[in-house]
Amino acid sequence: MIRNHHFEKVPSRYLFQEIRQKALQFQQKHPEAKLIRLGIGDTTEPIGPYIASQMELAAKNLATREGYFGYGPEQGIPELREAISKTVYNSQVSADDIFVSDGAKCDIGRLQFLFGPDAKIALQDPAYPVYLDSSLIYRGGNITFLPCTPENNFVPDITLAKGCDVLFLCMPNNPTGTVFTRTQLEQIVDYARKHHILIVFDTAYSFYVQGDYPKSIYEIDGAKEVAIEVGSFSKIAGFSGVRLGWTVVPEANRLKSDWMRINGTFFNGASILSQKGGIACLSQEGIKEVQAQVAFYLENTKMLAKAVKEHGFETYGGEHSPYLWARLKGLTSWQTFDMLLEQANIVTTPGSGFGPAGEGFIRISGFATRATVEQAIQNITKIDILTNKR
Ligand code: MLT
Repeated sequence: MIRNHHFEKVPSRYLFQEIRQKALQFQQKHPEAKLIRLGIGDTTEPIGPYIASQMELAAKNLATREGYFGYGPEQGIPELREAISKTVYNSQVSADDIFVSDGAKCDIGRLQFLFGPDAKIALQDPAYPVYLDSSLIYRGGNITFLPCTPENNFVPDITLAKGCDVLFLCMPNNPTGTVFTRTQLEQIVDYARKHHILIVFDTAYSFYVQGDYPKSIYEIDGAKEVAIEVGSFSKIAGFSGVRLGWTVVPEANRLKSDWMRINGTFFNGASILSQKGGIACLSQEGIKEVQAQVAFYLENTKMLAKAVKEHGFETYGGEHSPYLWARLKGLTSWQTFDMLLEQANIVTTPGSGFGPAGEGFIRISGFATRATVEQAIQNITKIDILTNKR
């Protein structure tokens, strides 16, 4: 039977399915253990009441003859695209260049069709596993890793991407939490322009960026010619189950009509209810609810950072992102994962799952209830660091 042989190049399970399976096996062996799940970055806080009320209203309208409609515009409801343009991009990106989707992850997968089978791909390493997995499943190889380690402050050496066609960047980075300064981002854009590299800039966590760091690549002059940007409502408004995101393909990089063709062929637009929720998120009332959620998860991450630092972990990130990137020198990622699971009943994500440069690290997610975080902090005190390092 026909099979895409590129599946031999990827692990049989997606990283977070693998973690779920490990946690399940542990739970079966230790039914008494109360597992603390800080592995997958999945939101826990209820959607804000104003945002939810607008989705409820939208559902009610669909039950009326006047309010009902079927397929929406493929590119997304104009009101939502206008709201993204105004609120996220301060009107610096045209609503016409924004394509609403069912989430950043789905768009990253579909983008592979835009680049085609011969594209040479460069990746920030470590990075969100979907960039690597979707590239491998689609074309089997042609990948260059740009290592990001404490030695280079997790900022990739862009010159390693020379000869590549596409560079995936995520800012703030998932998993390391790194943000680029304006100067660093200018250098990256400048290099991409000179060397004809298309940047895919994933901003799923941009609302977590504090202070004056850039929140979009389009804050950099000339970026529209070389960058596509992907955004998401999942981690800012608790929409990981509702499903809503967007991709900006500016007229200036000449890929817009191809992207339009892909969307018209493979996709019928995001759910109307999600889109009405998205409009509510970006309204005056909704944005307050969004900001409150972001602040809540950042506080969780800050509390966790303090606890793991006090227990001997080297810790990065967390300041501009809901993730901590931590290691106990001398242990592999999976050894640290197992130790935290066995001694503290805490599920994390092994850093090696995010790329070769992630080996030795684990990612700790701040997406949890406050009670879970407090329990995690208590359990961390049970870890015997010295024994583990011996
Ligand atoms: C994560 O990094 O935990 C992701 O958001 C989960 C995913 O999208 O698969």
